[in-house]
Amino acid sequence: MYVLGIESSCDETSAAVVRDGRKVLSNETSSSLRFHRKYGGVIPEIASRMQLETIAEVSASAVKKARIKLKDINLVSVTCGPGLLGSLLVGISFAKSVSFCLGVPLLGVNHLYGHIYAGLLEKEVQLPFVALVVSGGHTSLFYVKDFDRIQLLGATLDDACGEAFDKVAKILNLAYPGGPVIERLAKNGDARRMKFGCSNTNNPLDFSFSGIKTAVLYYVSRSAGRPVGRLNPFTRSPAYPFTNDIAASFQQAVIDTLIHKALLACKMKGLNRLVIGGGVVANNSLRLKFNAAALRNKIKVYFPPKEFCLDNAAMIAGLGYRLYKKGYSSGLDLTAGG
Ligand code: KG4
Ligand code: ZN
Repeated sequence: MYVLGIESSCDETSAAVVRDGRKVLSNETSSSLRFHRKYGGVIPEIASRMQLETIAEVSASAVKKARIKLKDINLVSVTCGPGLLGSLLVGISFAKSVSFCLGVPLLGVNHLYGHIYAGLLEKEVQLPFVALVVSGGHTSLFYVKDFDRIQLLGATLDDACGEAFDKVAKILNLAYPGGPVIERLAKNGDARRMKFGCSNTNNPLDFSFSGIKTAVLYYVSRSAGRPVGRLNPFTRSPAYPFTNDIAASFQQAVIDTLIHKALLACKMKGLNRLVIGGGVVANNSLRLKFNAAALRNKIKVYFPPKEFCLDNAAMIAGLGYRLYKKGYSSGLDLTAGG
């Protein structure tokens, strides 16, 4: 069964063809990131306009690269939320048109559950398992009993993990998105130099990243001898003499928290399988430390290949297949958030 996946929840426009929920035949993505860089974050209006301009071409390219014909497609699976409303509606409207014209079923799927499924593309993971999604918009722990029985165990109470990377990069006067830049600088930094830590939460499986972001802000302000409001921009690149150490100390504190909570969730659920997805999972240091900790705790950890960490349509097509096989489908009244 060939599934056309469409993902347009934020600044990536992605289309993929996946066979039988596992085999990725194509995954084409166009990003409007370059237009958002100068603003230091995604501008929804620009993102949705770029979705509209690129979605047809990206989808045609995905079908061509998969070496199939449009008429071979058996199901259209599309992200219906969460995400930016305007961007989501472009993908949903496009998916509806394709489904209507081809006379094939349509299915709207949850973006976060898609990030979980990214770890299952081209590999088998036995159900149930614990899943951690760490992206620019979300940081959540789930108990995945089945693909239609996913229970939220904990989530961020304030900033998402990737958002904290982006904001700390902004404080340090670094480029957007902050995650890859912080990762690069952290390689040459001393992670023990600053004692940053993530705030405690009442539910031990919730997350809070706004405190550590503020701690970095005040550390930089104190060290620079400038009031917080006048920090940015305040030096040339490298933004600050201890930038590498701040990046390394921040990154380590965040990774330690993610590991601690994910392993705790496994313990609480009595499970030894952990699937991790989302943009932050592109971070090599995170992968290495998670692998080491999982090994020590006899837990098997599954990561998606790097290309399926950031937003992509392959994960949406794969998850769509699984849900369709369970009897799910959507009508032409499908809308964002539904
Ligand atoms: O999953 P994603 O593409 O978007 C959402 O669904 O939100 O994730 C984007 C986020 C950004 O915040 C970006 O800074 C972060 O993922 N990110 C990273 C790395 N690469 C991307 N964070 C840490 N280390 C990285 N190497
Ligand atoms: Zn995402």
